[in-house]
Amino acid sequence: MSATIAVLSQKGGTGKTTAVRTLTDIFRRSDLNVLAVDLDPQGNLSDYLDVDPEVTPTVGDVLAGRAEPVEAVHEGIIPANLTLAEAELMLGGKMGRELMLRKALQDLKGGYDLILIDCPPSLGLLTVNALVASDYALLSAEAQYFALQGVQQALEVIELARENLNPGLEWLAVVLNIADMRTRHSREAFASLREHYGEKLLDRTIRASIAYAESAERAVSILDYRPDLAADYIDVAEELLRRLGLDEPRRRVASLAADSSPARAGA
Ligand SMILES: Nc1ncnc2c1ncn2[C@@H]1O[C@H](COP(=O)(O)OP(=O)(O)O)[C@@H](O)[C@H]1O
Ligand SMILES: [Mg+2]
Repeated sequence: MSATIAVLSQKGGTGKTTAVRTLTDIFRRSDLNVLAVDLDPQGNLSDYLDVDPEVTPTVGDVLAGRAEPVEAVHEGIIPANLTLAEAELMLGGKMGRELMLRKALQDLKGGYDLILIDCPPSLGLLTVNALVASDYALLSAEAQYFALQGVQQALEVIELARENLNPGLEWLAVVLNIADMRTRHSREAFASLREHYGEKLLDRTIRASIAYAESAERAVSILDYRPDLAADYIDVAEELLRRLGLDEPRRRVASLAADSSPARAGA
């Protein structure tokens, strides 16, 4: 079985790319074969995963029809750079413009357990391409006053993709990200999402910490840099695998959690 998951939100700065980076890392440590796809012309995921910025071809070349998808996979990631912005403009006038990524990933799917797509910070054509190419959508919502509105807008785009182009698309979950549950606005964001979306909202939130920016800067995984914080993402990863029905890998993720607990690590 192979599942493709688009990670999206209605705007930038909600922790999407950090989520894709960290989940990719956790799933790989649990022996899943994961392909990460950077679909943001800013190329943040490619940076995080330490791809050579000059490497070609990239996802922009694939969407522009200049390269075969398999050629664009570099050590488990299809990277992006500014050529993706050009490719997006070019796609705009084409028939089947929403289907390009789906076509590109079709031949690759068989080789991976999971494909994670990091969406750009808007709900435009690239995000629609990601949704049409995916089996599942995972929403990241920053724990702020407008979290609910952001999720509602993202859900409308998911609904459009489902109705018109990808009836099999499922909404996997929404995760409240960059949260400080000691503050009233984080707690209110959580409460309003829970009220509207019930168990689609993951119980576990991702705590806000400067350690995420630090670990990105130092090119060290948060799992090694701050295992205590990484417990949030490990829990989220476990719950996502449970929802995907992937029980064997879920147990391996659970054992990562045991390994990183302070008692076991002796920290
Ligand atoms: N849990 C977190 N706590 C604090 N800062 C975070 C957290 N997750 C990500 N960040 C930081 O917030 C910024 C935006 O994160 P990023 O993952 O790039 O979001 P997006 O892809 O949605 O734009 C980055 O500087 C990142 O290091
Ligand atoms: Mg991003």
